[in-house]
Amino acid sequence: MPSYSDLQDATVLITGGANGIGAAIVRSFHAQNARVFFCDTDATAGHALAAELGPRAAFTQVNLMREAEIIRWVKSITHGTKKTKSAAPPQPIHALINNAARDPRMSLASMSVKDWDDLFATNLRAYFLLARETAPHMPAGAGAIINLSSITFHIAPAEMSAYVATKGGVIGFTRSLARELGPRGIRVNTVSPGWIMTPRQLKQFVTPKIKKQIRSSQCVPELLQSEDIAEVVLFLSSTASRAITGQEILADRGWAHS
Ligand SMILES: NC(=O)c1ccc[n+]([C@@H]2O[C@H](COP(=O)([O-])OP(=O)(O)OC[C@H]3O[C@@H](n4cnc5c(N)ncnc54)[C@H](O)[C@@H]3O)[C@@H](O)[C@H]2O)c1
Repeated sequence: MPSYSDLQDATVLITGGANGIGAAIVRSFHAQNARVFFCDTDATAGHALAAELGPRAAFTQVNLMREAEIIRWVKSITHGTKKTKSAAPPQPIHALINNAARDPRMSLASMSVKDWDDLFATNLRAYFLLARETAPHMPAGAGAIINLSSITFHIAPAEMSAYVATKGGVIGFTRSLARELGPRGIRVNTVSPGWIMTPRQLKQFVTPKIKKQIRSSQCVPELLQSEDIAEVVLFLSSTASRAITGQEILADRGWAHS
């Protein structure tokens, strides 16, 4: 794994960090000696990962569909909790990784307004809320926001219209926010992973036949792992990528290129 000296001691917030790609992102920032704060609804997996990594990784159970929980979580990091609160100045946040999302298969006819709104609340509204709450705490010239979209936006399969709409929204959100926060030196980018061999994807969707299809769709056939995405996120969080903002980086081994 590459080493980015500017990420050492950086404070980084990661959503959906208990499982899958998010957990790999948590581990990769931890390996850079960053101060990692991650949230998830899955408290069992979240606490287990934090316990394994030790004091530089802190887990909080947060339901990203709830604005108040997001606000409380960010405040506990910048200003400390009731237990730890002191007269110290607010802690700066160096990077926000908006990763958590759900990808349900829902046909148009079966989708209720609640299904649609709930998906947008997790996959897009929470991205905006976290950006709003964290950006004021980012040091001028050093902040980075990374939003996870998906190759699915480009491939646009059936029965995923709500998911694809949220992921298209993420790209639009990134582009405008990069313009708005750029004058303060805060960079905003999207990472769109290809099909990643996370435990959940392997359990629910990735059959041997699908693996063959993925290999033939990608320019480079080797299947993608969560760590491949975490390394792209690290790069975009570091000043090594200081020339890049407002972009969508497709990390898909060339699938959407065709
Ligand atoms: N795995 C893939 O193949 C793939 C491909 C393209 C894009 N992505 C994107 O990458 C990101 C991570 O995907 P993944 O495959 O690792 O997913 P995952 O389901 O393995 O992990 C997502 C995590 O987010 C958490 N989460 C879901 N809803 C939440 C909520 N309301 N509040 C707090 N936490 C919540 C889950 O508990 C889970 O731990 C997502 O944005 C996804 O759309 C994944």
